[in-house]
Formats: sequence, C-alpha cells, structure tokens
Amino acid sequence: MSQKPPSDILDRRRFLGAAGLAGAGALLPIAAKAGEAAKPDPAITELQDWNRFLGDGVDKKPYGVPSKFEKDVIRRDVSWLTASPESSVNFTPLHALDGIITPSGLCFERHHGGVAEIDPAQHRLMINGLVDTPMVFTMDDIRRMPRVNKVYFLECAANSGMEWRGAQLNGCQFTHGMIHNVMYTGVTLKTLLDQAGLKPNAKWLMLEGADSAGMNRSLPVSKALDDVLIAFAMNGEALRPENGYPLRAVIPGWQGNLWVKWLRRIEAGDMPWQAREETSKYTDLMPDGRARKYTFVMDAKSVITNPSPQAPLKFKGRNVLSGVAWSGRGTVKRVDVTMDGGRNWREARIDGPVMDKSMVRFYVDFDWNGEELMLQSRAIDETGYVQPSKAELRKVRGVNSIYHNNGIQTWLVHPDGVTENVEIA
Ligand code: MTE
Repeated sequence: MSQKPPSDILDRRRFLGAAGLAGAGALLPIAAKAGEAAKPDPAITELQDWNRFLGDGVDKKPYGVPSKFEKDVIRRDVSWLTASPESSVNFTPLHALDGIITPSGLCFERHHGGVAEIDPAQHRLMINGLVDTPMVFTMDDIRRMPRVNKVYFLECAANSGMEWRGAQLNGCQFTHGMIHNVMYTGVTLKTLLDQAGLKPNAKWLMLEGADSAGMNRSLPVSKALDDVLIAFAMNGEALRPENGYPLRAVIPGWQGNLWVKWLRRIEAGDMPWQAREETSKYTDLMPDGRARKYTFVMDAKSVITNPSPQAPLKFKGRNVLSGVAWSGRGTVKRVDVTMDGGRNWREARIDGPVMDKSMVRFYVDFDWNGEELMLQSRAIDETGYVQPSKAELRKVRGVNSIYHNNGIQTWLVHPDGVTENVEIA
C-alpha cells in the first residue's frame, strides 16, 4: 500500500488552498482572511464515522422517519392562541419545505374536538335527506368506485388571522402555516350523490364529521357536483388520523373549515343549515357591524418562505429567494417579488407543476451585498386577480375580521441577515 495520500485528496486540498477559497470566500464559512492560510475542511479531509462503519439494517425503521438532523422541522403551535389543545391549531413549517407537496406528517392540524381515532371497519358514510335512495357506504364500498388523484391546497380561513391589526408573529410558519398542499386519492362526491339521486329541490348539503365536535358545514350542491372529492388517501398513503382518517371532504379552493374530516354523513336539503361554524364562526365582521357569511373562496395569496424570520439570510453573494403562492379561483399565473418594499417589482420564476387550486413554488436567484431588504411577494391568478396590500384590504374590510387575510406580507432583512415581520405604512 502506498504511504502517499491518494492524488484526488491532494487535489482537493490544493483546491481549498488560498487560491481556491478566494473565489469561494462568500460561500464557505471557514474561509481564510486575506493573507492567512485556509484551514483544511475536516468534512473533506477526515473520514467520517458514517463512511467507516456499517449503518442500520433494512428493518430498523419499517415506517421511515426523517433524519435526526431534521428534528427542528416540525409542526408548532402558538401556546397563547387557544385554551385547549383539543380545540386548537398547529402550523406547517413552510420555511423548511421546498417544492409544492407538504409531507403528510407536517400538514398543519386544526381540530375542534381533538383527533378521532376511527376503526375503518366500523366507519360508515350515510347520505340522507332530499335524495331518492338514502345510502350507507362502508370504506370497502367506496374503494370499489372509480378513483381520482388531485393535488389541492387546503387553507384555513383563519390563516394570517392574527395579522389583521398589524405584524405580530415572527415566522411564516405562524403567519401563513395554516395551509398544506397534498395529493388526494378518492372518489368524486358526484359519484356518490348519483347513486343516492338528489331530488330536484336539493340545493344544499350538510357535511358532518364523526369527531367529538361532530363538526358540520353547509355546502352548495353546485360546488358538490363540480369538483368536490371524498378522499381516503393523501400523498399515496391512507389519510393520517389528524387529517381525517379514514375519510374526509376535499373542497378545492374553498376555506378549510368546509373540508369536513372523519366524514360520516351528508344530508341533502333545500337551504343552508346555519351551523355554528357558519354563523358564530367563519363569518367576517365588517366595519359597519354587519358580517359577511358563506365566504367560501380563498383568494390568491403568496408568501416568501426563504428568507423569513425562521430562515434568515446567512451568506452574502448568491442566494435563493423562495416562496409559495396559491389561488382558490384556479391556477396562479404569475408571482412578482420586490426587495425594496414595493418600489421595484420583478417576476419570480415559477418552477414545478402549475395546477388548478394547488400551490406553486417560486424562486428569485439574487446577489446580496448585505444591504437592508424589504421583501414582498404578490400573486396574480388566472382570473387576473392581484393579491392586495394589507392597506388595500383593510380599506374594504376594516380590522375586525379574523378570516380571509390575503394581504401582502413584508419581511425586513437586516444587514446581519436577521429577518423580521413588519408592515409598510
Ligand atoms: N372536520 C371535523 N370533523 N372537525 C374539525 O374540527 N376542522 C376544520 C376542517 N375539518 C375540522 C374538520 C378546519 S377549521 C380546518 S382548517 C380543516 O379541517 C383543517 O384540516 P387539517 O387538520 O387536515 O389541516
């Protein structure tokens, strides 16, 4: 065996010498100061344990989990927001994700009565009311019907609700994380309704959950026959218990509250039910004291996820700005980004699939020289709707609302890279 280190190691060390580092200085945190010799990078020069010892065998984790180094990438709640964890919400860590699919285990959860743990063999879906033939379906019955696969965003109407009166929470996980975007597998609601046969005067449906809250909402029949799904899978696997296992409603583009989880009954009627969730909650109090009701559609919205308060800028030079955008009215046509608080806008690069009522991912590759940045993004959807500024939104809606805040978010990046949630007056 030769005593000499292999020539490729020598070559790599040479590359990391002063000349090599000068070029890459902005990228490598161990870069040498001018005149000093660069320290060798042990990540390259030392053989690491994982390179020397056998790893775990194939059966160690029959259901895979993320690397232990990703332990901070988790759903988080805001402790002061709700009185009990059973009627509460946690938030998707948007700042730590990329692409457009939310991993199932990171999809935010919103429950009114905790997570129902349902045995699928004991689960039934009933369709009754103004139908020709009341029906009861088992899970096996539903799985034997024609299936569809669709990617949709689910946004809680209360997403960004804490920001109505001003910048409050420091992180896009908390300001915008009541959203997820997954692929659903299921059957169309139309397939089920056709079997029951809607009577001509059936104009509304009431969807009811099997959880302790028995949460229910009224849904217009026109939407039910258009694109609503009854899903049993997300991202290729069974729905997670927190997201409605074994069956949930998928109401594309409409507020998350309508997406009844643990779905057990659909009743057809000729008017809305005036349920708690559509009278005392999920209504928007306007400045004149009146409340908007049945505000189903989630308007176009976007947020820059990186940089953001939980993901500050770390390096001068080349950087990637990234974010997500969505619209409940169809596809996202364009996303614009400004770095100087709205004086100049440039079109972001949308990369990945652009689908009806699904998130898109956008990027701006840029150079940062350490100057202060005022970052904003605005989404424009296929109808031509432009995401409004917070000031424009408040002019029309006042500040009493909790729901439907789709105003433009501002992040202030300080010269040290620290990023905060601010508003431009
Ligand atoms: N369905 C039932 N049965 N019970 C609930 O508490 N919460 C609703 C909706 N469906 C809820 C429900 C609300 S307010 C939202 S925003 C979404 O589910 C959240 O879905 P997720 O937990 O999968 O994110």
